[in-house]
Amino acid sequence: MDFEDTLQAARPTSRIDLNRYLMERSGLRDGDHILDAGCGICGPSIHFAQNRNVTIEAVTLSSYQVSEARNAIRKAGLQKRINVQQGDFQHLPSLFKKSNFDRAVFLESFSHAGVPLSVLTGAFELLKPGGTLYIKDFFAKVRADPKEHARLQDVIAKVNEVFFLHTPSLQETVLMLEQTGFQRQWIQPIQFELDNSVWNKFNKTHGFDLYSGQPAIEWCDWIELNYRKPIN
Ligand SMILES: C[S@@+](CC[C@H](N)C(=O)[O-])C[C@H]1O[C@@H](n2cnc3c(N)ncnc32)[C@H](O)[C@@H]1O
Repeated sequence: MDFEDTLQAARPTSRIDLNRYLMERSGLRDGDHILDAGCGICGPSIHFAQNRNVTIEAVTLSSYQVSEARNAIRKAGLQKRINVQQGDFQHLPSLFKKSNFDRAVFLESFSHAGVPLSVLTGAFELLKPGGTLYIKDFFAKVRADPKEHARLQDVIAKVNEVFFLHTPSLQETVLMLEQTGFQRQWIQPIQFELDNSVWNKFNKTHGFDLYSGQPAIEWCDWIELNYRKPIN
């Protein structure tokens, strides 16, 4: 068992169930024009386009992923509905037209942003008034006890190093979203039972020792955020 075409750690046992879940939670509707920011090899985008009458612009930093995604899109016959390009979602206004999208989705990609405020500002500009932003990602847990906090920070530093991440703080992300002008629709922990087998196998196969030989700890919360660009 591996990630298949959906490069996400927080997942139920079935990848199809995960993509169906994401499609529902992000509120995708027929007719939507969608930005898939940090699209991987477009597994989720392909699922969305196969199940809703939507058009999608997808962007990833990786040229390898762009080429894999294009092959998969061609195989699925979705070239007219999904366009994928290489680009940095920290510079969205240089890549796409303003007020262009009904939805922007960040599926375990926001946590890669070194400059999250510019990501959110860019997403805001690109959304149409009334358009929505959906983020599914992990956020750093917080511990009051200084010893536990230090251990948590060590694990997060290791995770960041191994996976090229900037594990976000939920509190700071919410402040940035408000500062950007987004209106909160809802924030919730993920609503499915986690199956960690893919994630655990991946770490084992690659010899990643995230806990530096110590017992594993829970270092993150899996959260979904849904925000809206106001109409006026
Ligand atoms: C964990 S993968 C998730 C991929 C995809 N959303 C999925 O669910 O299969 C993170 C993705 O974010 C992309 N990414 C990271 N930083 C990025 C950036 N600054 N601009 C665009 N894409 C980025 C990576 O290339 C990768 O495709």
